[in-house]
Amino acid sequence: MNPQSALEAAGPQAARIASLWWFMFWVFAAVFVIVIGTMLWALMRRGGPADERKMTRVVGAATGLTVAILLLMLVASVSTGRAVSRLGPKERGMTVEVTGNQWWWDVRYANDDASRIVVTANEIHVPVGRPVMIRGSSRDVIHSFWPPNLNGKIDFIPSRITTQWFVANQPGRFRGQCAEFCGLQHAHMALWIVAEPPDVFEAWMQRQLQPAPEPATPAASRGRDVFLQNPCVMCHSISGTDAAGRVAPDLTHVGSRLTIAAGTLPNTRENLRRWIRDPHAIKPGNHMPTIALADADLDSVVDYLETLR
Ligand code: CUA
Repeated sequence: MNPQSALEAAGPQAARIASLWWFMFWVFAAVFVIVIGTMLWALMRRGGPADERKMTRVVGAATGLTVAILLLMLVASVSTGRAVSRLGPKERGMTVEVTGNQWWWDVRYANDDASRIVVTANEIHVPVGRPVMIRGSSRDVIHSFWPPNLNGKIDFIPSRITTQWFVANQPGRFRGQCAEFCGLQHAHMALWIVAEPPDVFEAWMQRQLQPAPEPATPAASRGRDVFLQNPCVMCHSISGTDAAGRVAPDLTHVGSRLTIAAGTLPNTRENLRRWIRDPHAIKPGNHMPTIALADADLDSVVDYLETLR
């Protein structure tokens, strides 16, 4: 399955949108064939001057048909929009708060028990078959959350909450993309939605609830010291340490994620190293400052971050 396609639905909301897409595609394909066919016929026909009254009738009928088709599309589009917003038995649902930032996604699993709120970034795990409500907002400019295999776009607007429901009806990894131009790195503002069987999701949730593990090797331990003594802690959080910044992605379990820099790079040791050394070479204009670390310190920090699973 294509992980980012509005035509390969992994849930009922996206399936409705895909049906509308195909309906519009076939109707307009027919319109195209008729228009081009008529034009070719008009170019090739021979004969005397056209009959004015006949022409008026033909043009009148074509105008009427055009208006009818456009009305049909309006009705189809509005009814799909209503159906999509109504789908999903909301009683069993779970709520995920997602906040757009230039240029990454903050993800928080709502829970009445504050000790059970999971915080992560740029990756949303969901259990298959359970409705998920995305409560979206933005900390800076307007972003738009668009996971095409699961649902359409919703704008994330500063100081407002917008919501969207989706249900993944099969396991898989689905790529979402910011769909509203939000500045220089708009194109590098992606996220992954990982739909898993409920028991796998629950195990993931339990791991995410744990604070960061104590470093098990001297290298990782040194890496944690370097991290905590540098400006990294001003912006990032690592639960269980003194790092409690809120303006950049939470790193408590960064090692467990698929990508870094909001879907920009696969989460590998080499990429992590490149990213910390010079984030602006990879994502110019992003808000992570370049911190001059000695090679040995950089290696230690990467050693430490890799243990945060
Ligand atoms: Cu955020 Cu485009």
